[in-house]
Amino acid sequence: MSSKPRVLFVCLGNICRSPLAEAAFRAEAAKAGLIAEADSAGTAAYHVGEPPDRRAIREAARNGIDIAHYRGRQVTAQDFHDFTHVFALDAENLANLRRVRPSGAPARLSLLLDCVDGREGEAVADPYYGDESGFAVTWDEVSEAARALVADLSNG
Ligand code: 4NP
Repeated sequence: MSSKPRVLFVCLGNICRSPLAEAAFRAEAAKAGLIAEADSAGTAAYHVGEPPDRRAIREAARNGIDIAHYRGRQVTAQDFHDFTHVFALDAENLANLRRVRPSGAPARLSLLLDCVDGREGEAVADPYYGDESGFAVTWDEVSEAARALVADLSNG
């Protein structure tokens, strides 16, 4: 790839799914030696300035990653200029991102699980209203997607 990938992961609140996706991507990129930037955001402003959900912090910690310093923010139109790729965690957020995206902005916009063979079009399930076990499922899903994405980006 001619320039460093800059990847943004977007869910609703930016406290559960997208921080875990950002963490998984950072870990997989580091493992593969891929130089990339990563961030996450929410389509909603409910949790701006807040750390991730404590269950997400614990799930990341179980996988050796500290995300307690991450802070929630809302996605902006400018993000579609600042990032090369914007990944929605589910279809509803993808639809909302299509409304935020300025016409002509360069970022590629797609569903995160489109990166995974056989899971195109699927959502990363929202663990917010469930119990802690849902966060392990989320971790597995975002990690699988992150591995596939890093492989894609590494191959140019
Ligand atoms: P996230 O999960 O979009 O994965 O961060 C949620 C976080 C907060 C809310 C819903 C989902 N909420 O309604 O506040």
